Amino acid sequence: MKFFADTADTADIASLAATGLLDGVTTNPSLIAKSGRNFLDVIREIAALTPGPVSAEVVATDTTGMLREAEVLKKLGSNICIKLPLTLAGLTACKALSDEGTMTNVTLCFSANQALLAAKAGASFVSPFVGRLDDIGQEGMQLIADIRTIYDNYAFDTEILVASVRTPTHVLEAAKIGADVATMPPSVIRALAHHPLTDKGLAAFLDDWAKTGQTIA
Ligand code: E4P
Repeated sequence: MKFFADTADTADIASLAATGLLDGVTTNPSLIAKSGRNFLDVIREIAALTPGPVSAEVVATDTTGMLREAEVLKKLGSNICIKLPLTLAGLTACKALSDEGTMTNVTLCFSANQALLAAKAGASFVSPFVGRLDDIGQEGMQLIADIRTIYDNYAFDTEILVASVRTPTHVLEAAKIGADVATMPPSVIRALAHHPLTDKGLAAFLDDWAKTGQTIA
């Protein structure tokens, strides 16, 4: 399973990239607004920090406008993935970009039928939002399972990029289903490494080691 960081915070991305565990980055207009920085500058910087796909989202709502914005975004790095909303206009733009070999991520996916359309449009990634479905009392992870079944039925190679991930449990469930990618806030990526028994065990080992008076050199 690939791990993407869902953030526009370049310091966080640099620190995660240094672990060697980061496979890519997703951003959205809200994350860019939160950064308080210039969109194009931030995306250019992120694209240089990671070799993996960096999703940069268009804000036009018509296909022509989306394709025009995609041309600008593509110039920011060879690893730019054009993120498009799951609307008919976005799917049309996705098909055109996919046909020319541009990486695409169709976002704001909330149903399996929408995911089916994204695959038919040739999307590199589809982003189903599990947390936002959970927020309205639906089972976000059931959507991931349904998309996995449908994509496997037809051997679609669009990757399932689980988005709106809020907890390590979301990551675990998505991995068990066989989702291709999870994009998460940096805090969730870091939380995956933590277990209280690891901390407790390490403290005990270090205490006992100190008693030996030895060093490893
Ligand atoms: C995905 O690409 C989105 O940026 C993101 O996962 C949305 O998450 P949220 O629902 O926590 O805002």
